[in-house]
Amino acid sequence: MKKEQVVNCQFSVWYPIFKKHTIKSLILPLPQNVIDYLLDDGTLVVSGSDHNTQRTHTNSSDSDAEEDIQVQEEEWSDDETTTTVTAPEFPEFTCKVLEAINALGGRVFPKLNWSAPRDANWIALNSSLQCQSLSDVFLLFKSSDFITHDLTQPFLQCSDHDSPDPAISYELVLRKWSELIPGGEFRCFVKENKLIGISQRDYTQYYQHISKQEPQISQALQEFFSQHIQYHFPDEDFVFDVYRDSRGRVWLIDLNPFGEVTDSLLFSWEELTSGTSLSANQEEGETAQQQEGPAFRYTTSEVTVQPSPCLSYRIPRDFVDLSTGEDAYKLIDFLKLKKSQQEESEEEEEEEEAAAQQ
Ligand SMILES: Nc1ncnc2c1ncn2[C@@H]1O[C@H](COP(=O)(O)OP(=O)(O)O)[C@@H](O)[C@H]1O
Ligand SMILES: [Mg+2]
Repeated sequence: MKKEQVVNCQFSVWYPIFKKHTIKSLILPLPQNVIDYLLDDGTLVVSGSDHNTQRTHTNSSDSDAEEDIQVQEEEWSDDETTTTVTAPEFPEFTCKVLEAINALGGRVFPKLNWSAPRDANWIALNSSLQCQSLSDVFLLFKSSDFITHDLTQPFLQCSDHDSPDPAISYELVLRKWSELIPGGEFRCFVKENKLIGISQRDYTQYYQHISKQEPQISQALQEFFSQHIQYHFPDEDFVFDVYRDSRGRVWLIDLNPFGEVTDSLLFSWEELTSGTSLSANQEEGETAQQQEGPAFRYTTSEVTVQPSPCLSYRIPRDFVDLSTGEDAYKLIDFLKLKKSQQEESEEEEEEEEAAAQQ
């Protein structure tokens, strides 16, 4: 995989070409100070004073994360001095983002030039990537390794190490929120402008409708490819993701480089790049070589259902509740526990001191 291939898979490169066949989206340039904020591990507080009215808060109408933390400190701290935690603010950018969210119907799916923060959905209040404000986006982005990868090492796995890294203009992509049923998502592998393989995207689950409709799905995706995708993309090797909706209409979801950075799902990169024909679903007795079209692979009922690939990124629910303040009682219990532990150790110290004096 060459750096050029990665450059071509940026959202702002492919979106204008395939606009008619994908989900409505808006692209906003990411200012340098916002990039710095996203990369700063020290800034815990989520910024974005965008007056999101959707969340339930016990205090004022202003739902600034910053303000909530201060209020909590005032209420729960015995200490006279309250530490002020400040998050940087980006008024102009915040305004543009809010406008874009409104223009897309109020609920969006966020991503950067290449990646969405799929590894961070557990941290959001709704455990989803759906965002209604810039602070929702920031919370996901700041918690995501995928986003950090986009920002710090987009060309990590490229083979042309010695060539200089192409300059990247970072962009915030906001896509209209769409309820996609995971069983309708497929990944298509294109080599030398030929569709060689199709894999169910959510391979951890068995979907009965896929095995029942295999020929129809395969045909619909091949038609979509030959009518709208083939020869339209600047590269001849690439991977595209599609969604087949309940009416059978196919939508383009994403474009990815043809190489290791992209999950090969039910194929392996070895077989995809080897040049030999891929046998369909690798079932015994099947003579896929006789068939023309692409190999089509999906999870069959015999395969045990596997854990979600993003599971390893998660932390226990209690920590999430504490960090997001979702469950205020948990936080109060936690603080009480801390306080009683502190008192206990203080008492012990006093006893020790008293014993020493005797
Ligand atoms: N507009 C959207 N609304 C809701 N969910 C979406 C939307 N776009 C994508 N998704 C979901 O998020 C997943 C990842 O999206 P994608 O753009 O491919 O990001 P990445 O390249 O980081 O995997 C998709 O497989 C789909 O399930
Ligand atoms: Mg992708």
